[in-house]
Amino acid sequence: MAKLAILAVFVLGLLGGGARANFFTDIDVTWGGGRAKVLENGNLLQLVLDRTSGSGFQSKREYLYGRVDMDIKLVAGNSAGTVSAYYLSSLGPTHDEIDFEFLGNLTGDPVILHTNVFSQGKGSREQQFYLWFDPRLQFHTYSIVWNPQQILFYVDGTPIREFRNLERETGVPYLKSQPMRLYSSLWSADDWATRGGLVKTDWSKAPFVSYYRNYRADACVWAGGRSACSPASGTWWDQSLDAAAAQKLRWVRQNYMVYDYCTDRRRYPQPPPECAYSR
Ligand SMILES: *[C@@H]1O[C@H](CO)[C@@H](O)[C@H](O)[C@H]1NC(C)=O
Repeated sequence: MAKLAILAVFVLGLLGGGARANFFTDIDVTWGGGRAKVLENGNLLQLVLDRTSGSGFQSKREYLYGRVDMDIKLVAGNSAGTVSAYYLSSLGPTHDEIDFEFLGNLTGDPVILHTNVFSQGKGSREQQFYLWFDPRLQFHTYSIVWNPQQILFYVDGTPIREFRNLERETGVPYLKSQPMRLYSSLWSADDWATRGGLVKTDWSKAPFVSYYRNYRADACVWAGGRSACSPASGTWWDQSLDAAAAQKLRWVRQNYMVYDYCTDRRRYPQPPPECAYSR
């Protein structure tokens, strides 16, 4: 039994584990000259934005397929002009990327959750949503499931977006060979973020702070030029939307969607090929 338990821990370790990560050991603060801080024995991380700089971090590990979850509490009060990003990305000019970005707003006005998917360096697949809660008041869980069939974006377990592997049907390249890191940052983009740049960052409210906890990566770690990923890697491996989940996705789209590139005829008179398959 003990041997089995040790083996299980070892195997989970190889996979990146489903266990909660520790910000001291599992991420690197990469930007912000000391503004970002790891607190509470590695269980809490704060990003800070002031007039001089924002801040950011990245995971130490790279992954090829997996599920990542993070609890995030966004900048409180008047966060207009600020952007908090939380995304997976590979490197280079033909990189892949899966994005969550939160566009701040005046107190009482809704934050927008902006999403995008890049494959082989091509993005421009934005979908934006309001949330059914105020993400500045409490921690909420934002998750990405990435497996060979699809990418799923979740908010508190509710699916908000699906990007399917439609290589065969459409020729649109899928994210399947470039390992990605998790990145997160807080910065000011008041030239575009809030009401298209009309509302500026109010620096008298600085410093702006966002909080992160419960980072879990149940994912296949990329090491030595490979990732040993298989159906046994986790329940996320063949996760897809069943009828009930698809119903929830439709509820989100009907009630909270602000923008969908698939229906932007001014930008895309011919919708991109993957759009023919969207739910
Ligand atoms: C900010 O609030 C305004 C007014 O309610 C709204 O139109 C806008 O979509 C909100 N979000 C952003 C990021 O601009």
